[in-house]
Amino acid sequence: MQVQKDFSLKKYNTFGIAAIAKYYSTFFNQDELRSIIENSKNITTKMILGGGSNILFTQNYDGLVLKNEISGMSIINEDKNYVYVKAGGGVKWHNLVMFCVNQNLGGLENLSLIPGNVGASPMQNIGAYGVEIKDVFYELEAFHLKEKEVQKFSADDCRFGYRDSVFKNKYKDQFAILNVTYRLRKDPDFNISYGALHAELERMKIAHLTVKAISDAVISIRTSKLPDPAVIGNAGSFFKNPVVSSHKLYEIHRLHDYEEKNVPFYKLDEEHFKIPAGWLIEKCGWKGYKKDDAGCYEKQALVLVNYGKASGKEIYDLSEEIKISVREKFGIDLEREVNIL
Ligand code: FAD
Ligand code: EPU
Repeated sequence: MQVQKDFSLKKYNTFGIAAIAKYYSTFFNQDELRSIIENSKNITTKMILGGGSNILFTQNYDGLVLKNEISGMSIINEDKNYVYVKAGGGVKWHNLVMFCVNQNLGGLENLSLIPGNVGASPMQNIGAYGVEIKDVFYELEAFHLKEKEVQKFSADDCRFGYRDSVFKNKYKDQFAILNVTYRLRKDPDFNISYGALHAELERMKIAHLTVKAISDAVISIRTSKLPDPAVIGNAGSFFKNPVVSSHKLYEIHRLHDYEEKNVPFYKLDEEHFKIPAGWLIEKCGWKGYKKDDAGCYEKQALVLVNYGKASGKEIYDLSEEIKISVREKFGIDLEREVNIL
């Protein structure tokens, strides 16, 4: 595969940032990846790119961007209760979800319409509406960029956490995820515990739950709340939802005089509560804010947006201002979810 120089990444990141990669190449299989790496030993900085939907380029990329285009998805095995579906890292995530939904295989329906590719799904253990890929993950194969060897990772090896995995920490930038295998249920076990999903299913008057009905409800919520990156540049939630102690939650009620029912939270255990960062940001007055082309989305304050020509630096600076104001008002440090480059 040819390595191109000074390649524009504008169409390759959903924020639509006009960053330039010094070098760029695609790979369609493991052998191509190996050969590109062997032929570019002089380029020490490398990154794997999927759909570019969880990245903010704040400057040009002074290295080699390797775009994963490994395709293919199929059922590779089944047993009494499960079907095992293996997909190439370059497959669009939603196409994999639809492949499973159309065959009435249960497990991925709550994760419908998440942008990006299969190869990135384990990176931050993607999640939505009460499900994370760790619930359905079976194993993956990844190529070590330095050792040039393929390694298998089980769910335990991946050390999945909330928007987290071993690939964001200990093995950051070391592996290219080639393919992922998921374990789907033949007899679906529906999860409609997430309030907004439950409400949407009621609104749609779904009397009989199916994998398809849940997928349709999730798609309906997502299209009503989240900006379509093809229209408004964004990378989904910009920050993680913070986990706070019971004491901190009490302090928020007391110091800010919010009635308990007005502070949304999700109880993890007796001592730990997740608060929606979108609520904290909205309470700081940012929702719908716009400075030149960088903004905070009017329907979901956790989503920062590029209305056209914002630079990555402008989006980043806005995120820093938001972080500071949430820290000043609530004493909570928001952690960015989007990968900053
Ligand atoms: P990229 O943005 O291309 O890459 C993300 C990171 O993974 C980078 O560090 C990159 O180097 C690395 N990477 C990518 N592919 C590989 C690979 N094959 N091997 C090794 N490293 C790799 N996320 C959720 O979890 N839940 C949501 O509900 C959700 N909603 C979203 C809604 C919108 C509108 C948008 C724009 C984004 C949303 N996201 C959500 C974030 C995003 O879709 C996911 O994080 C997705 O998995 C990113 O996939 P990608 O292929 O675009 O990854
Ligand atoms: N809220 C506000 N104001 C806002 C936005 C949210 O007050 O502007 C409050 C509301 O109380 C609302 C609650 O936050 O009920 C939760 O909002 P929502 O259901 O939209 O979910 P979220 O917590 O903002 C998380 C994920 C999303 C995922 C949804 C659905 C994170 C960081 N984000 O968002 O993931 O799709 O739940 O499960 O965990 C992503 O990671 O990019 C992403 C979009």
